Amino acid sequence: MSDAASRYLELLKACLMDEIYDPEHRDVLAEDREWPRRAHTMLGRERLDNIQACIESVLEDGVEGDLIETGVWRGGATIFMRGVLEARGDAARTVWVADSFQGLPAPDTQNFPADAADAHFTRPELAVSVDEVKANFARYGLLDDRVIFVEGWFRETLPALPVEKLAVLRLDGDMYESTRVALDALYPKLQPGGYIIVDDYRSIPGCFKAVNDYRAEQHIREPFVVVDWTAVCWRREPNG
Ligand SMILES: C[S@@+](CC[C@H](N)C(=O)[O-])C[C@H]1O[C@@H](n2cnc3c(N)ncnc32)[C@H](O)[C@@H]1O
Repeated sequence: MSDAASRYLELLKACLMDEIYDPEHRDVLAEDREWPRRAHTMLGRERLDNIQACIESVLEDGVEGDLIETGVWRGGATIFMRGVLEARGDAARTVWVADSFQGLPAPDTQNFPADAADAHFTRPELAVSVDEVKANFARYGLLDDRVIFVEGWFRETLPALPVEKLAVLRLDGDMYESTRVALDALYPKLQPGGYIIVDDYRSIPGCFKAVNDYRAEQHIREPFVVVDWTAVCWRREPNG
């Protein structure tokens, strides 16, 4: 791996976390502070490092497929995905950027009773328009035709998403519904040797339950890897 590429990725992380101008940034959510005022991602360093490690692993092992994040907010994690592909010389894979671009849905308690108390939909800070996210990609010079924006509620967009194979599937939709709908639609497309990352597993009960329900129903046995105070991931086994 070239040293310049690795240094580019470190600089990209620092910019996305707003760390180069605000050395105090670190992981504001882990410290129970408000959503970052200016950073392009809510993720802290461990989770960005994890995205990098997963992508580098699939590239090295030749695992086929695109990358997707479901729940992108200002776009930071997906900007980073595109940057890793660029830094590591991948010329083929697409980054799918899926969001309502208007915040979270109100709980659908009939279909997803676990979301009954979820109040994320009341938070205007979580609504970031697609134009703003595109502009953020452009600021990093990473807006091109290998980034595809999927606009709408996951229940409407993900089941028919025209992607055949995924190498990295990153879920960051907070709620039971948002997690469960993404798992149902996309996990079957995750290739053997590919990674699934769940941002909210250790911090949001609805997400925790959605993942546990899905794993139990699908008899998924791969062990969790803890990423940080909130995120986990696992690697899909050849016959997983
Ligand atoms: C925690 S934020 C994502 C943070 C982001 N990954 C980052 O790098 O900072 C959650 C996002 O998920 C989106 N979202 C949650 N549930 C959704 C759903 N059911 N359909 C569409 N978008 C959803 C919200 O609009 C919001 O942008």
